[in-house]
Amino acid sequence: MRTHYCTDLSIENIGDKVELCGWSNNDRDHGGIIFIDLRDKSGLIQLVCDPADSKQAHVTANGVRDEFVLRAIGTVRARGEGLENPKLKTGKIEIVVEELIVENASEPVPFVIGDNKVGEEARLKYRFLDLRNPKSYEIFKLRSKATIAARNLLDAQGFLEVETPILTKSTPEGARDYLVPSRVHNGEFFALPQSPQLFKQLLMCSGFDRYFQIAKCFRDEDLRADRQPEFTQIDIEMSFCDQEDIIKVTEDLLVDIFKSAGHDVQTPFNRIRYKDAMEKYGSDKPDLRYDLSMVDVIDIFANCENEIFSGIAKDKKKNRIKALKVPNGDNIFSKRQMKGFEEYVRKFGASGLGYFQMKEDGLKGPLTKFFSEADLEEIIKVSDLKVGDAIFFGAGEKNLVLDYMGRFRIYLAELMDIIPKDVFEFVWVVDFDMFEIVDGKVKALHHPFTQPKDINAPIDEMESIAYDIVLNGTELGGGSMRIHKSEMQKKVFELLGISEEEANEKFEFLLDALKFGAPPHGGLAMGLDRLIMLLTGSESIRDVIAFPKTQKVQCLLTQAPASVDNDQLRDLGIRLREKPKS
Ligand code: AMO
Repeated sequence: MRTHYCTDLSIENIGDKVELCGWSNNDRDHGGIIFIDLRDKSGLIQLVCDPADSKQAHVTANGVRDEFVLRAIGTVRARGEGLENPKLKTGKIEIVVEELIVENASEPVPFVIGDNKVGEEARLKYRFLDLRNPKSYEIFKLRSKATIAARNLLDAQGFLEVETPILTKSTPEGARDYLVPSRVHNGEFFALPQSPQLFKQLLMCSGFDRYFQIAKCFRDEDLRADRQPEFTQIDIEMSFCDQEDIIKVTEDLLVDIFKSAGHDVQTPFNRIRYKDAMEKYGSDKPDLRYDLSMVDVIDIFANCENEIFSGIAKDKKKNRIKALKVPNGDNIFSKRQMKGFEEYVRKFGASGLGYFQMKEDGLKGPLTKFFSEADLEEIIKVSDLKVGDAIFFGAGEKNLVLDYMGRFRIYLAELMDIIPKDVFEFVWVVDFDMFEIVDGKVKALHHPFTQPKDINAPIDEMESIAYDIVLNGTELGGGSMRIHKSEMQKKVFELLGISEEEANEKFEFLLDALKFGAPPHGGLAMGLDRLIMLLTGSESIRDVIAFPKTQKVQCLLTQAPASVDNDQLRDLGIRLREKPKS
C-alpha cells in the first residue's frame, strides 16, 4: 500500500506525493490543526491534518487514538522555521495529509511504545507491542543480516547446512536436559538437544566434510543476563583439519558478521593459554579492554613473618598468593575504601584482602611489618609499582583466590570506569585443561568428546585441544578437536567415571561411528544471541530474542510453561504426584 517507509523521506522529497502506513504514536491538537506522529518499523514522521487542506483528514484524525493503524496520503513539505525537531530523523519535514484512512482501531494500550521507564514484565507480557519500537526492529534487522552473513560465508567456504533432530537423546554439555515424554513409548523420554554436538560428529563420520547449522539448543540451567533456556548457535564442524583451520574459519566468520553491522574487525585475534588467563585475570573469559592483571607473589610471601601467609605459601601447587596492581590506586581510593574492598571479596569466599600503597618513601600498609626490606623491594619490582599505585593481595586455595581476585578485577574496572566503550576486544583462550575436579568428581571442562593432548598425562595436568573465543569478557563460543578413535573415547569415559555399561547405553551410536572409519575432525559453536547482544550493546540477552523467557524461565506472553489436561497426561502415561497450582 505504501510508497515509502517513514524515515525514507527527507528534504529531498519536498513536494512529493506519498502514501504511508503505520501506527499513531501520539496526536496533538494545536489550534484546530491535528498533528499525528506516524510510526512504522523505520521510525516516525509527523502528519499534519489541517481542515484547510482536507476536511476528511481532519475529521478522521479527530477520532484517532494511540496505536490506531493508519494509512495517509499526502505531500511532503518543509517544517516551518523554528518548528524542526532535531530528535527525529525526519524532523525537518512533515506530511500535509490529503486523505487519512483508519485501517484498524486500537483499545488503549497498556504502555506507551518505546517508553524506557516501563517495567520488563509488562513489556514481555505484551511483547508484540514492545517490538513495535523501531529500536527493537533495528536489533532484529541486524540479527537477520548477521545470520545471513554467516550463512553466506560458510556456504562460500564449502560448508553444508544440515538440520539435526530436536527430539533426541541427551547430549551432555553440562546442563540439565529438557525432556519430552513419548506417547507411543510410555515411560520413555526424548531429550531436547543441548547442542548438535554428537550429530555433527556423526556427519563427519558420514564424510560430509564441512557442516554448519544455525541451531536451536536447549539447556535447563540457572539463567543470567547472557543465558536463556533456548538459544541459537552458529555451529560448525570440519574433517581433516586442525585447530588452526577452525580458528581461521571462525575469524573469517566474525569479520563478515561484524562487517554486516558496519564494524571493521582486525584478525588474527590475540591468544592466551587457559592457564595464563586464569593466573593473570582469574577468569577463562578475560576482558582485555583494560589491562589490570595479577602477578604471583607466593615466593615472596613464603619468607614473611605472618604465619597465615607463610603457611599458605608452603603449598605452591594447591594455593595461590596473587597481587593485583591498580595504577594510581593510592591516589584514587581512600584508606576506608581500600578496607571496604574486603567486604566485596568476602562475598565470594575470601577470608581477607591485603593491600599496600606505594608512597614516595616505599611500600606502606598494615602488612608491611611482616616483610623484610628486601622482600618489599621485590614486590615493588615484580609488580612494577610507581608512586601512587596500590596493590591488593588475595591468599588461599588456588581456585578460590583466582575466582575472587578475577571478580575483584572486574569490580575495580567498573568502579574506576576504565572500560572503554565501543571497543571489540577478541581473544582466543587455548590449551584448556581436559578435566576439572568438582567436589572430588572428575568433570570434562568442555565436553567428553574433546581430544586430550596426551591421554597418559596425570588427570589434573592433562590439557586438551580445546579453545574458546572471548569478546569483551564474554564467552562467545567454544570448540575443540574431537576424539576420533573409539578406544580413546572409551578411555576418556572411564576417566570421567562413566562405566562401560553407561557409555554403551548412552553413546553406543557414537562409539560405533568411531569404530567404522571416523576421520580426524573438530569444530566450534558460537552463541548467536550473545554475539548480537554484544554487537548491539544490549544489556540483556532478552533484548535480542524475539520472544524470550524471563529470569524465572517463563514466557509471560503465552504463559508457558502451563499445566495440561489429564487426558493428555494419561496418553503420555504420566500421573502427577502433586496437583499443579491452578
Ligand atoms: P558450549 O557449551 O561452549 O559449546 O556452547 C557454545 C556457545 O553457546 C552459547 N551458549 C549460550 N547462549 C545463551 N544461553 C545459554 N544458556 C547458552 N549456553 C551456551 C555460548 C557458548 O560459548 N557443542 C559445543 C561446541 C563445540 O564443541 O563445537 C558447545 O555447545 O556463547
